[in-house]
Amino acid sequence: MKEQLERIKVEALRKIEASDALEKLNDIRVAYLGKKGELTTVLKNMKNVAPEERPKVGQMVNDARALIEAKMEEAKSSLARKAREEQMKREVIDVTLPAKKANVGHSHPNMVALKEVERIFVGMGYEVVEGPEVEYQDYNFTKLNIPPNHPARDEQDTFFINPEICLRSQTSPVQARTMEKGKLPIRMIAPGRVFRSDEVDATHSPSFHQVEGLVIDRHITFADLKGTLAEFSRELFGKDSKVKFRPHHFPFTEPSAEMDVSCFKCGGKGCRFCKGSGWIEILGCGMVHPHVLEMCGIDPEKYTGFAFGMGLERIALLKYEIDDMRLLYENDIRFLRQF
Ligand code: DAH
Repeated sequence: MKEQLERIKVEALRKIEASDALEKLNDIRVAYLGKKGELTTVLKNMKNVAPEERPKVGQMVNDARALIEAKMEEAKSSLARKAREEQMKREVIDVTLPAKKANVGHSHPNMVALKEVERIFVGMGYEVVEGPEVEYQDYNFTKLNIPPNHPARDEQDTFFINPEICLRSQTSPVQARTMEKGKLPIRMIAPGRVFRSDEVDATHSPSFHQVEGLVIDRHITFADLKGTLAEFSRELFGKDSKVKFRPHHFPFTEPSAEMDVSCFKCGGKGCRFCKGSGWIEILGCGMVHPHVLEMCGIDPEKYTGFAFGMGLERIALLKYEIDDMRLLYENDIRFLRQF
């Protein structure tokens, strides 16, 4: 019996060692330790063993069983380890390979210019506000001192939705909307998209952007307007920039002016960029018309203010020396990446 046990043990261990798959280990378990397994059969035959020998033989069977089970566990984990190692080799990742670059695009020159304009005015204490692109004629015209049938309504080639509603032709209606809210004083800029029924060419587009500005407080004078816009120009175009105001007419301001900056390309001497004049026109401005203040619920005896409006594309074209506005709308990444 002892020899038989020894033989079973040696044989089982040898088979365990030789097995190269988890299924094979399972077969071995069934063959030796299972209900009809060889070791179990030995136990079943205990009745043939002399009673005084039984505890000893029982102990030997248990030892053999424990040894086989332990070896089996060992073999199992070593097989699992090998399998994992092989899988790791198969699925190896080279973390030093360069990553695929995500194409994140580029800020549009309009946005770059707008951020710059916003930075300057926010730095002077202005708030950035927005108004609707689809606007009542009342705000786009009437409250800006452009009554029905006034020729200025035709000058801006407006797109109409119906007799009361249009696509705003300027950002100036945001002035009226802000004043009507009744919170004073006001220091705001209002950037946004505007629409005019214009043909596309190097300097025109049916949809473009403006930045409106409005300041209302007690004792605001034309000197405040000049100082503010001169400072703005020095920030935007360089500290040597000079400004010049030419009398002009806008219905919603009185007096009104157009502001030119000294050409930052030639310093004012005159070049191709400024068409020889040394000056570049950049915005319209003026003191808010008392009638506009009144229509928007502000007492013109107590409050005064100034307003200005500029074309954002124009600023971007000038600042980045782009000579055709259409380039701004083509979204060619090779063009956009330059700014
Ligand atoms: N809204 C005018 C335009 O589109 C620009 C403008 C001029 C705005 C004078 C103003 C201003 O606020 O005071 O042509």
